[in-house]
Amino acid sequence: MTVKEIFETMDYGPAPESAADALAWLVDQGSAFGHFINGKFTAPSEGFDSKNPANGETLAQLSQATQTDVDTAVKAARSAQKKWAALPGHNRARYLYAIARLVQKHSRLFAVLETLDNGKPIRESRDIDIPLVHRHFYYHAGMAQLMDSELPDREALGVCGQIIPWNFPLLMLAWKVAPAIAMGNTVVLKPAEYTSLTALLFADICRQAGLPKGVVNIVTGDGAVGEMIVNHEDIDKIAFTGSTSVGRKIREATAGSGKALTLELGGKSPYVVFEDADIDSAIEGLVDAIWFNQGQVCCAGSRLLVQEGIADRFYAKLKARMDGLRLGNPLDKCIDVGAIVDPVQLKTITDLVESNTDGEIYRAGATIPAEGCFYPPTLITGLSTASKLMQEEIFGPVLCSMTFRTPAEAVEIANNTRYGLAATLWTENVNLALDIAPKLTAGVVWVNATNLFDAAAGFGGVRESGFGREGGWEGLAAYTKPKGSTKALTKAEPFMGEDGPVDPLDRTAKLYIGGKQARPDGGYSQNIYAKNGKLLGQAPIANRKDIRNAVEAAAGAKAWSKTTGHLRAQILYYIAENLSARAEEFATRIDALTGKKGGTKEVEAAISRLFTYAAWADKYDGQAHGVPIRGVALAMKEPVGVIGAMCPDEAPLLGLISAMAPAIAMGNRVVLTASEIYPLAALDFYQVLETSDVPAGVVNIVSGNHAELALTLADHLNVDAVWSFSSSDISGLIEGASAGNLKRTWVNNGQSRDWMGAAGEGKAFLEAATEVKNIWVPYGE
Ligand code: NAI
Repeated sequence: MTVKEIFETMDYGPAPESAADALAWLVDQGSAFGHFINGKFTAPSEGFDSKNPANGETLAQLSQATQTDVDTAVKAARSAQKKWAALPGHNRARYLYAIARLVQKHSRLFAVLETLDNGKPIRESRDIDIPLVHRHFYYHAGMAQLMDSELPDREALGVCGQIIPWNFPLLMLAWKVAPAIAMGNTVVLKPAEYTSLTALLFADICRQAGLPKGVVNIVTGDGAVGEMIVNHEDIDKIAFTGSTSVGRKIREATAGSGKALTLELGGKSPYVVFEDADIDSAIEGLVDAIWFNQGQVCCAGSRLLVQEGIADRFYAKLKARMDGLRLGNPLDKCIDVGAIVDPVQLKTITDLVESNTDGEIYRAGATIPAEGCFYPPTLITGLSTASKLMQEEIFGPVLCSMTFRTPAEAVEIANNTRYGLAATLWTENVNLALDIAPKLTAGVVWVNATNLFDAAAGFGGVRESGFGREGGWEGLAAYTKPKGSTKALTKAEPFMGEDGPVDPLDRTAKLYIGGKQARPDGGYSQNIYAKNGKLLGQAPIANRKDIRNAVEAAAGAKAWSKTTGHLRAQILYYIAENLSARAEEFATRIDALTGKKGGTKEVEAAISRLFTYAAWADKYDGQAHGVPIRGVALAMKEPVGVIGAMCPDEAPLLGLISAMAPAIAMGNRVVLTASEIYPLAALDFYQVLETSDVPAGVVNIVSGNHAELALTLADHLNVDAVWSFSSSDISGLIEGASAGNLKRTWVNNGQSRDWMGAAGEGKAFLEAATEVKNIWVPYGE
């Protein structure tokens, strides 16, 4: 045998990591666990087995939490919360730091336990999951330290219910727990039923760190326990990571409850390879994109799009690489692909692939172990955008692929999905990369790299991949609220009067849709009276069709989102100038509508507010995060898209402008529903828009019944977010109806806002008007 032949045939010998310490730890705990409540483990109770998916062996018994367990955990979290939040940030920082240190110290135990419980290769749990966990606690120790100085206007939400999946058990726990407790919240967390062991080890770490009792509570069990947390009355916020279908249920269940909500859901992320890409690197990237954690990754690059000219060569190399992947005992350090988490998930993957009749299937040549949950790395080529497997999340080691011809076609195919979590693109051409990255609908984009994560860079999606970000400064928004008490909104009644002749010279107000005045589809209007019963005019009553027309006009005005901040600022200044020219007329109108004397002040405040957002239009910048890779993560602020806003009665003109101005300043298009009882000021306002160079469709204004119109907006698939400042009780209705395409909502829950004061403008509005997209770009040495 020649040396060359020896090298070619040389195989890897097994190099298993010892499971002894982790198994001994389980035995030390009696191999049966209760819940971690108020700083103590409860006695184990009836429940279920936690199994090692690589060999089917039982690792421990877990308890299924009862309603009483959940109630006790919430109570513990509630009684600990005020004191925890009142600690100086530095004190909380020390606890987070202690947790980070302890996780680091026990990282080998954590890694082995994670691999035993979940089936992921030890190389991954050792080198990716656990290091990211302690990084997350270090990073958020810093956030706790800085909270007092950097977020002086924010405070904790209270008690957070957190429900996490099984694909990154400890990492998802860290993503949830670290920012929550850093900001002064307390938590009740439920790990996934397949993988609760590292969460229970983490509970022990909290005890060792001396974390005050009740700050972290962990209850185990299945989806029924998740539901108990979601429906618990004394929880202020739900944070969920898991499937889109459960996310949708949670959106519906929490609608109208006043609970804050963030959802990190599924994905079908595109992995786009252009013909000038470094092919070998792109193939190595695919190993990390779809075979990392057996493809059980929400942001897995599961849709491969290859440019036609290189497709044959690319697929041939990819198949060769697939054949080199080693599959087997996850504790073996030589293994690339471990076990699928559970037989249930293995069956889901198998059924989905077997039901497919499109394209050609290629399975890697690796030997499948005789026992355990294993599925071979699989490639399906020649699919079309309509193929089920190009649309459905498989959540397994199955790569679906098709080709494209031009960059424009790549973008079209990449965005042809109901999801929007992540995207990867490979090209050696920096111009092409920087042209394509902003066009991809996703919360995270990796350029010439894939599946990179860091505590400093927010992670999260758009569309049906959910809403909210975890990590970075933006992640803190999900665990804090503005300081100060709120006041309940009282609904004012419209003034009544005698039917009488309308002044023939007074123009009957219309709707404003697509840059044109439009009669309402139903032809109906309502009389609007002054306090003294005088008829002031008639306001149109819009119906669903009018809303649909307005949404269509807004959707068509896409070009606005690509304009520069400078141009948008100029237009906002111009609107202010034109409103100022008619200030007296608007002030008189507002006084007549509301029967008060605040018109002049309100118009002045509206002009100032337009200036505020003209100022912000080119200053609400993104960030360049210093992430620990050879590169940067550019946190870009992007417009949300089409926003529907229900405007307040408290300030009929100022309220409308307070919603419109931040939205259009950030590049969104809006459908504004005027105050239900004082609509005329808003309808007069379209005359100002008409003279201010606002492109058609960017601002649309309708009036009518808030409940009916809000429902149509919240239901509409082309609306990306709905805001409500309405005095009608419609927050729950909007949140419930938004579950369809999981659009973002921002509702007042029946609370009033001081529109003349600081609460009427600022960062909260800008945040609601933008999505953060983190674009990871290789940079420097
Ligand atoms: P799942 O969404 O059912 O489970 C995630 C977590 O939610 C678990 O802790 C579970 O106990 C809990 N849960 C289940 N039903 C609930 C309910 N009604 N209310 C509150 N909590 C509830 O995910 P599952 O069944 O484990 O996996 C099914 C599919 O979900 C996978 O094939 C995959 O497509 C997707 N998935 C996506 C994940 C992601 O990170 N985006 C993670 C896990 C699964």
